[in-house]
Amino acid sequence: MIDTPAWHKLEQHHRATAHLNLRTRFARQPGRFADLSVSACGLLLDYSKNALDLNTIGFLVELARERGVEAWRAALFAGEPVNNTEGRPALHTALRAASPRGDDISLAIRGTLERMRLFSETIRRGVWKGHDGRALRTVVHLGIGGSHLGPRAVCTALADTGRRELEVRFVANVDAHELDAALAGLDPATTLFVVASKTFPTAETMMNARSARAWALAGGVPERALPQHFIAISANPREVTEFGLDARTMLPMWDWVGGRFSLWSAIGLPIALQSGMDALFDLHAGARAMDHHFRNAPLDANMPVLLALIGVWNINMLGLPTLSIAPYHHLLRHLPAHLQQLEMESNGKSVDRDGKAVGAATAPVVWGQPGTNGQHAYFQMLHQGNAAAAVDFIAVATASHSHEAHQRALLANCLAQSEALMHGRTEDEVNAALAASGLDAAARAALAPHKVFPGNRPSNTLLLPRLNAWTLGALLALYEHKVVVQGALWGVNSFDQWGVEWGKEIARGIEDRLDATGVLGGVAPETTNSSTQGLIAAIHAMRG
Ligand code: F6P
Repeated sequence: MIDTPAWHKLEQHHRATAHLNLRTRFARQPGRFADLSVSACGLLLDYSKNALDLNTIGFLVELARERGVEAWRAALFAGEPVNNTEGRPALHTALRAASPRGDDISLAIRGTLERMRLFSETIRRGVWKGHDGRALRTVVHLGIGGSHLGPRAVCTALADTGRRELEVRFVANVDAHELDAALAGLDPATTLFVVASKTFPTAETMMNARSARAWALAGGVPERALPQHFIAISANPREVTEFGLDARTMLPMWDWVGGRFSLWSAIGLPIALQSGMDALFDLHAGARAMDHHFRNAPLDANMPVLLALIGVWNINMLGLPTLSIAPYHHLLRHLPAHLQQLEMESNGKSVDRDGKAVGAATAPVVWGQPGTNGQHAYFQMLHQGNAAAAVDFIAVATASHSHEAHQRALLANCLAQSEALMHGRTEDEVNAALAASGLDAAARAALAPHKVFPGNRPSNTLLLPRLNAWTLGALLALYEHKVVVQGALWGVNSFDQWGVEWGKEIARGIEDRLDATGVLGGVAPETTNSSTQGLIAAIHAMRG
């Protein structure tokens, strides 16, 4: 629990309303949808299927005020060092700001965007040639985490946007099965590798880049022509040069942009290569519109703030630690993975900005897959399991395909699932339905309990008019701001990620001991235990 007056009021409000059932709330409040939905940037957020009402929103907004959300928002946009453990601002919003402020940061951003535009156009139009004079046809983007998940989610979502002059493939994992799959069928002479790493010593990306270079050389690309087939995106030109890539063609990033917030930067190059720079500019424009809404809308009509507050209500008051992202659109299938990093790497922390224990649960466990697939995978548990989960349904009113019946079925399923979660189905209703089943009384009595749905399970539904770069930009910015507001509410630093370092250190020690000769070389990492020892021995045994 966070020991503040607003938090205690919220706990008291929860105790006083916990007995209410969503079905009852809807029955008593015919105007519930109108009261508990908000539109912004063409998106509609229906939050009426959450276990709350306008009083709850009032208490949540009071908490937001008490936790300084408005001041935190101002600090974020003003470029203050909101990332206190690294002494950095978090200026991902500057990457998509329209009016250049004329300061150094704006100039660097504008210059980089212009370089991205020129570079992507010369590649897409075949002006930039490979070593044998042929135009490049495939881009292989090497990056991981924020250097992968955001660009991949956007490229997948915009697969039908803009002329497809180039195919873009992604490789993130150090597991070479992914690299091999991406390189399958490619001609080194017509392949461009984008090595994307903000810091540049990220082990997975470096190993993939070394193997890609070896593949290109083995495929006939002369050493002197490698710069025609490799471009780096990084905040670390020295390491880029060390690695043997050309820092002169490197597209810069900056340490005031967090990896999971970086798709708006040069890390978004694959978006421009695949769909054209106009698509990236449209993405920026949609996000900019959401930035404007976030900065100006009153807290109780502010979509990112409401999404954040509802999340705190679900996690900290209702005790729902996970959030299922259910995009009812095939082209949003990589969105859950991006939001996983955005939410869990930003707020998956247990100490606040001052290093003191946060007395409350923080980031949700984010998971999910597109609907309607999820209905055939995990919705059984969402409906009838003992561990409920909050759900964000994301639907798009108008499809970019021409199969009207498919789109109707998709949307009907999306709305039906959130209704079933909310409404449930009582034993009386089940018995009434079974009465016409022709089963005898004993069979009906035996079956009925298995067909009861507890209901009262919360969800949000986000509705986009269409899926295009503009609406996608607004959607992504919505979640970015939600995460930042939740970080402020819990008091955590949403912009560092110290938790990813220790595992890497241990891995380096174990890697030495898994050397090909099978001799346990290297110094045992201090965390060696019988499990790790036993597993290393078993790996050697299995590998013969
Ligand atoms: O997961 C840790 C992390 O540092 C992320 O924050 C980042 O997006 C990813 O690794 C990749 O980092 P880089 O872009 O520096 O290779």
